[in-house]
Amino acid sequence: MSTHPALSAPTTLRHARILGLGGYRPERVVSNEEICQFIDSSDEWIQQRSGIVTRRFAREDETVIDMAEAASRQALERAGLEPGQVDAIIVATVTYPFQTPAAAPVLAHRLGVEDPAAYDISAACAGYCYGIAQANDMVRAGSADTVLVVGVEKLSDFTDKHDRGSAFIFGDGAGAAVVGVSDRPGIGPTIWGSLGERADAITQREAWTDLRPAMEDASRTTALEWPSFTMQGQTVFRWAVFSMAPVARRAVEAAGITPSDLAAFVPHQANMRITDAMVKALDLPEDVAVARDIAETGNTSAASVPLAMSRMLDEGEVGSGGLALQIGFGAGLVYAAQVVEMP
Ligand code: UT7
Repeated sequence: MSTHPALSAPTTLRHARILGLGGYRPERVVSNEEICQFIDSSDEWIQQRSGIVTRRFAREDETVIDMAEAASRQALERAGLEPGQVDAIIVATVTYPFQTPAAAPVLAHRLGVEDPAAYDISAACAGYCYGIAQANDMVRAGSADTVLVVGVEKLSDFTDKHDRGSAFIFGDGAGAAVVGVSDRPGIGPTIWGSLGERADAITQREAWTDLRPAMEDASRTTALEWPSFTMQGQTVFRWAVFSMAPVARRAVEAAGITPSDLAAFVPHQANMRITDAMVKALDLPEDVAVARDIAETGNTSAASVPLAMSRMLDEGEVGSGGLALQIGFGAGLVYAAQVVEMP
């Protein structure tokens, strides 16, 4: 038996929802023709196999922080909040080029958020949905009132433009959500997990430390290779198609709704054929709008779900207040799905 007095702890849970969403797409539109200058491929093949027509690449001097800031400012403005009202920042990214410190405190300073809890999470293409799960629990339990969740990637920095298996897939961008206290539940339970035995399916080619011998080799005879990302496309494709629809279905059940209650399905924009297969497997009603942002944005990993949802809201494809089923999946392998009320 403990002898100390009971610690204070919240006795009632609050509700949380997404109060505002923002997105940032770099200016430069990159065509399949441009990608095909470096790989043996064609515009037709890329469109048929992935659904990608164009993607955006950030400028060389445009950083993960720059993109995150733009998306965050839009999300805050749409939530009707000032940066000063944020008390926690979670940045989901796998392309922030500093091992330490994290991007979140740097972003906080840029935004003028004073003294927030700030940290990054590394959950690849599921990072944003992991972040929403954490923000929901933080607001519900009372560890924060307002949480900024950002998914941001500059994948062009880590893509080998000569790699036929991945060069055409990735793009750059940022998406952000402000999660805050709500009078009703606006974020359903998260179904999440991981499959570390397939860690090799999407991975950085070598560890940063593998670069060291080459850098220290004064004679420069050791090959210095950039640790870009590589992907076993078919393995990931099969896993996504067969395993992710059941996860999405469980998220709908956990939310206590049925697919006919959904206004939108926003899967990670990995491949248009994966989206099509999931829609079929889930047997979604015809009137559920399906995010197809990949055509013009490519696969932006952690940024893909918030960017795709932002586009649907901006273009009036779905209305504010509707329910969306969102799911992220990728390197790890990791996944997370939840139903959210769209802001
Ligand atoms: O965001 C994280 C999660 N990532 C994903 O979910 C990505 C999942 N994977 C995919 O989206 C797909 O696997 C890719 C789009 C990457 C590739 O499509 P695929 O249908 O799985 O292609 P494949 O690797 O099975 O290759 C099919 C054929 C092969 O030729 P043969 O053996 O049938 O003659 C390849 O050599 O296509 C060939 N091929 C290409 N042809 C033109 C492979 N890459 C290319 C290419 N251009 N870039």
